[in-house]
Amino acid sequence: MTGRLDWRAWPGRPLRGSLSVPGDKSVSHRAVMLAAVATGSTRIEGFLEGEDTRATAAILARLGVRIEAPDAGTRIVHGVGLHGLRPADGPLDCGNAGTGMRLLAGLLAGQAFDSVLVGDASLSARPMQRVTVPLAAMGAAIDTGPGGTAPLRVEGGRPLAGVEHRLAVASAQVKSALLLAGLYARGATRVREPHPTRDYTERLLAAFGADIAVAGDAIELRPGRPLVSPGTLLVPGDFSSAAFFLVAASLVPGSDLRLRGIGLDPRRTGLIDCLREMGADIEVELSRPGQAGPVGDLRVRHAPLRGIEVPPARVPDMIDEFPVLFAAAALAQGRTRVAGAAELRVKESDRIAVMARALRTLGVAIEELPDGACITGGAIAGGRVDSAGDHRCAMALAVAAQRAAGEVVVGDCANVATSFPGFAALAQSSGFGLAEEAV
Ligand code: S3P
Repeated sequence: MTGRLDWRAWPGRPLRGSLSVPGDKSVSHRAVMLAAVATGSTRIEGFLEGEDTRATAAILARLGVRIEAPDAGTRIVHGVGLHGLRPADGPLDCGNAGTGMRLLAGLLAGQAFDSVLVGDASLSARPMQRVTVPLAAMGAAIDTGPGGTAPLRVEGGRPLAGVEHRLAVASAQVKSALLLAGLYARGATRVREPHPTRDYTERLLAAFGADIAVAGDAIELRPGRPLVSPGTLLVPGDFSSAAFFLVAASLVPGSDLRLRGIGLDPRRTGLIDCLREMGADIEVELSRPGQAGPVGDLRVRHAPLRGIEVPPARVPDMIDEFPVLFAAAALAQGRTRVAGAAELRVKESDRIAVMARALRTLGVAIEELPDGACITGGAIAGGRVDSAGDHRCAMALAVAAQRAAGEVVVGDCANVATSFPGFAALAQSSGFGLAEEAV
């Protein structure tokens, strides 16, 4: 993270034209990890140049993997094979990235050497026992700090055994950590999810030739096969980044915007369903299969929004989109209710509390629930709000400001670079009223 950065945001122009967003964060983390432990070289195109994914690539480089970056968004990873990683000379810094830390915990549990995973203040406050406890059931030994948080001290050289896991929380990160450890286990690793979550790890493991099968709610990985590079991996645009533009164009009269090359895995696109129920005008213009699920173009035009009840079963399909859904709800007619989303409290920030505090400052009637919120939409005022260093809250508040009655100052926005480098410039050029201010 660089120095502190605030934004000033105000209603800009209608959003028009077409744009693409940076590569998918979840796919980029997984692509570079699997390429690292495969045989052969993998060219990753569309790699997210965000702080989170660069931290993961830097960790793999410190574990002995040669990674070239011939240009922005491209990585050539010279895989070392499943047993070719080497110990690093100190702690491995995952930065702000929960995905990086949790997936690496699984990958490193299977190595012959010890490792220590650390992160920034936000990541060091997030729950890690959701991965360390099921990994321990496979034979891994991972010490956490007090309270089950990072640093994670991963003891190497422990024999792992494949077991059946029934996940208590619908979490793609936990599922993925267990599957990665399963590559090093004796016997099959089976993971059952309470609700299906993004399946990039499964898809990419299959692309690398792993023996993986999905039957009903169970994913089974049988170890023994080496991972072999598929040659090239294409990372689609990140739906969670496109989401800010979907909502902004829905809110701003006169908007008509195309978003090109976006990953449209149905386990990610619950926000489209919500926005359509709210009255939004969104078309999927073209959808084609990709290595990490369907990829397509979206067209969104302004339409007045009304409040909805978000079905709790949809929550995992839009888990990263609640900050921007709250922004849409604050400007919709009537009441929006979200429940069954307690996971939002353990993201990069407590997203329910951070968004509730910020929207209340802007005059929105919002009631916090333990697992969601009730928002009565209408107009929003200008004011000074705090993103609490949470990238998605910062961008969501800049979106809300596009319909505010006055200027909104959003504090602590530097972490936007973790997932969406260049957001401010892209937003400005597409019509947002937005200026960055180093403070
Ligand atoms: C992610 C899974 C989700 C999501 C996160 C990325 C992933 O987290 O919120 O931004 O890449 O697997 P959980 O697994 O905690 O739900």
